[in-house]
Amino acid sequence: MNPALLEVDSVGKQFGGLVALSSVSFDVPRSSVVGLIGPNGSGKTTLLNVINGIYAPDRGSVVLDGVPTKNRSPSDLAASGVSRTFQNARVFSTLSVEQNLFIPLLHRSGGERAKSIKRADELLAFVGLEAHANKTAIELSGGQKRLLEFARALVTKPGLILMDEPFAGVHPQIKATLIRCIQEIVEREGASFLVVSHEVPDLVNLSNFMVCLVEGKVAAAGNPKDVVRNEKVIEGYLGQSDE
Ligand SMILES: Nc1ncnc2c1ncn2[C@@H]1O[C@H](COP(=O)(O)OP(=O)(O)OP(=O)(O)O)[C@@H](O)[C@H]1O
Ligand SMILES: [Mg+2]
Repeated sequence: MNPALLEVDSVGKQFGGLVALSSVSFDVPRSSVVGLIGPNGSGKTTLLNVINGIYAPDRGSVVLDGVPTKNRSPSDLAASGVSRTFQNARVFSTLSVEQNLFIPLLHRSGGERAKSIKRADELLAFVGLEAHANKTAIELSGGQKRLLEFARALVTKPGLILMDEPFAGVHPQIKATLIRCIQEIVEREGASFLVVSHEVPDLVNLSNFMVCLVEGKVAAAGNPKDVVRNEKVIEGYLGQSDE
């Protein structure tokens, strides 16, 4: 049988004495959105960092398309279709919005300028930033930067896109655009997403599956509606006050 696109098996990661992840296991199926929730410090970003090769796990394995990713760098994994956005959107602030896409596209195509400009403009239109193409990226709002970072994550035509809190602090209209774009990429390209968010109702609607981490362990995983009703999830995350 075809394995899941991504298999995370018994992953552990410590920072000195601090156990950030402890025996974390779950799958990301093909053509799906997996939502990743959990309180601050529960290990969500660390898990994304392990999956895209920023950190090597201390224990366990990450298997992409049936092949273990052991010792592979983020750029090597990007070439195999793993792409990523960050908790604080990363764009090239001093470049224009279009150049943020054109330059990686030019590099990737081996110098095909016309093709790279066309593709950059297609990606900008896809995320609704075409009117801002000639602005310097630093002039964009926080939400628009997230749209640009997302468009840049699509440059490599990834099969797996990891997104770390894409909706944090963004205007509802931009959030709706991001959600529509994610859904379209799943339907059109058959890609999969692992999306971290504290915006639980939105993530329940968007996701086919959900994983909740509490203190570096999987507290519950499965159908999103069941996960948010799970006692351990309510006790360890959703029932907490914001104070
Ligand atoms: N490079 C590091 N060195 C030391 N400790 C780290 C490092 N990265 C993360 N940690 C610790 O690991 C734990 C998990 O952090 P992580 O950033 O993965 O949490 P998170 O679930 O993404 O939280 P948030 O919702 O606040 O973004 C925290 O206690 C954090 O302080
Ligand atoms: Mg985080």
